[in-house]
Amino acid sequence: MKEQIEKVKQQFQSEIAQVSSMDALEAMRVAYLGKKGSVTELLKGLKSLSVDEKKEMGRYINELKAHVSEHIAERGAQLKTELEEARLKADKRYDISLPCQETMGTLHPITIVQRELEAIFSSMGFAVEDFSEVVTEYNNFEAVNIPKHHPARDMQDTYYLDNGQVLKTHTSAAQNAILRKYGAPCRAIFPGRCFRNEALDASHETTFFQMEGMMVDENISISNLIYFMETMLSEVFKKEITVRLRPGFFPFVEPGFELDIQCPFCGGKGCATCKHGGWIELCPCGMIHPRVLEMGGVDPERYTGFAFGLGLTRLAMMQFGIHDIRMLNSGNLKALDQFVMM
Ligand code: PHE
Repeated sequence: MKEQIEKVKQQFQSEIAQVSSMDALEAMRVAYLGKKGSVTELLKGLKSLSVDEKKEMGRYINELKAHVSEHIAERGAQLKTELEEARLKADKRYDISLPCQETMGTLHPITIVQRELEAIFSSMGFAVEDFSEVVTEYNNFEAVNIPKHHPARDMQDTYYLDNGQVLKTHTSAAQNAILRKYGAPCRAIFPGRCFRNEALDASHETTFFQMEGMMVDENISISNLIYFMETMLSEVFKKEITVRLRPGFFPFVEPGFELDIQCPFCGGKGCATCKHGGWIELCPCGMIHPRVLEMGGVDPERYTGFAFGLGLTRLAMMQFGIHDIRMLNSGNLKALDQFVMM
C-alpha cells in the first residue's frame, strides 16, 4: 500500500508540473480527488487492511490528499497569472514592459487657493456653494439690479446663447439663488469660473475665477465686512493684513467699495507686486442693495448684509508670484505642476 501511495504521489508531481490550462487542471483534480480518482481509490482500499495498518496508511493517504489539493490550488493561481500575462502580451494595445508612470498630477494653483479659502470660510460658519457657469440673463444681471440697457452691462460683455442664457460674467450671478435657498440669516461663499469679453494681456483673460461671499442677518454693517475680510486675508497671507476701502460703484451694493490690501510683500513701501503703490486692489464689496435682497425674497426692512467678489485668479497670482495670467489657462504642465499646497 505504501508503495502505491508513493507512486500516486510521484505521478501527481510529474503531471502537475506540465499542466498548462485551467481545463487540464480541472481534469487532474477529478482524476485524483474525484469519486473515482486515484486518491479516493486508495482510501477505499483501506477497507481490506488491519486496524493498525488502516491507521498508518490512512494518515499517509490523508497527507497525500492535502498535498494534492494544495498543489492544485497553487498551480491554479499560477496559471491564472501566466494566462493573463500572455493575454496582455498578445494584446497589441498595451505594452506591459513599459515602466509605470511615477509622477502624480498636481492641483492647479487656482484650485489650491480656492480650497484654502473654502477651509477658512467654512471655519467661520460659511456654507460653500457651487453654481452653474451657464446662467440665465436674469440671474446674471436683472437679479443683481442691472436692468437691460444699463451701462454696467457694457463692462461685462459675454457670450449670449441661443436659448437666452449667458456665460456668467461674475459670481454675483448666484446671489439670487443663494438668497432664495437659505433666506435670512445666511452666510455663504460661492467660487466659480467667469467669462468676459476682454482684450488679453498679462493681467486680463476672458476666463477667470472669482469667489463671492455673502452674509445676511439682522444688524450686519460695514464693520462686519471689514472684520471678515481682514480675518480671511490674514489667514491667507499668514500675517496681519491692513485693508482700506475706497468708494466703488456696483449696482447691486449700496454703499459699494473697492477693498485694497496693504501690499503684504513690501509692507506698503512699494514693490513690483503692488506696482510701487503700496496697496493692491483685491476685492470689490459692499452692503447688499435692498432691491437685491427683496428680489431674493429677503425682507430689506429687517435684514442687511454684505457681499464681496474676491478675485480668486488675482489672489492665486499674487500668492504664487505668477506674472502672466495667460499661463493659468495654458495647459502647460511644465509651468502648472510647480505649485503645491502651502
Ligand atoms: N461682481 C462684481 C464684479 O465682478 C464684484 C462684486 C461682488 C462687487 C460683490 C460687489 C459685491 O465686478
